[in-house]
Amino acid sequence: MSINRKPIVVGNWKMNLSLSEATGLAYELSEQLEDIAGVDIDVGIAPSTPFLSIIAAICDESAIGISAQHMSAHLSGAHTGESSVQQLLDVGCQYVILGHSERRHVYGESDEQIAQCARLAHDLGLIPILCVGETLQQREANQTLDVVLKQVSSAFSQLTADEASRSICAYEPVWAIGTGHTASPEQAQEVHAAIRKHLSELYSVAIADSVRLQYGGSVKPENAEGLMSQPDIDGALVGGASLKVNSFNSIVQITSKLISQT
Ligand code: 13P
Repeated sequence: MSINRKPIVVGNWKMNLSLSEATGLAYELSEQLEDIAGVDIDVGIAPSTPFLSIIAAICDESAIGISAQHMSAHLSGAHTGESSVQQLLDVGCQYVILGHSERRHVYGESDEQIAQCARLAHDLGLIPILCVGETLQQREANQTLDVVLKQVSSAFSQLTADEASRSICAYEPVWAIGTGHTASPEQAQEVHAAIRKHLSELYSVAIADSVRLQYGGSVKPENAEGLMSQPDIDGALVGGASLKVNSFNSIVQITSKLISQT
């Protein structure tokens, strides 16, 4: 983690939690993270779409940012089941997760769609969290960097340098998501460093140095310190461990403490 980049930890709740569980978790997090969220570290939560507005209202007084998990690649119109970027802004979102592996692999989202969403998000003022990552098969075939850097090129392809620097990129190896198998700090750092170098070639060293890169995939309090202390890892995108107040709080505290020691 670098002193020049403010760390960011986001909890991706996916399609979990009842309304009462989600609101309870949001109340507890707003209380427990009151002193550090937004100060040393940016903290976000990504509830399911139907709960966005109520969770945003609960977190309104806190510095916890609200993220959507998905958005439409279209501005408005006949797109049943989708949410537009303006609708997400209207209910209080600051971030949107784009190209999560579950969206790519289960719902067939293409690189082009993700690039289009990133373009629209910046047009209207939502910060995209651009997810990239290889499958186990691709890792075993030594294709990790080819796959990940191609996804990065495409996700950033319609963004100016200034927009790129305000974007967040999350490296989430597919084989580490929800499996309990985390990438080792060295494996994660290798890919993060390659992403940053690639961004320096697409834009400039200064822009690449300003983009915050998150790691995601079975992040827990027990492995957070090793991962978050790597020089090119600036935070985490947390799935399962973000559903429990104590584990998410610990990950945020560990990440924030590391930056204050840098
Ligand atoms: P897990 O932390 O449950 O592996 O999920 C990671 C993830 O997909 C975050 O977006």
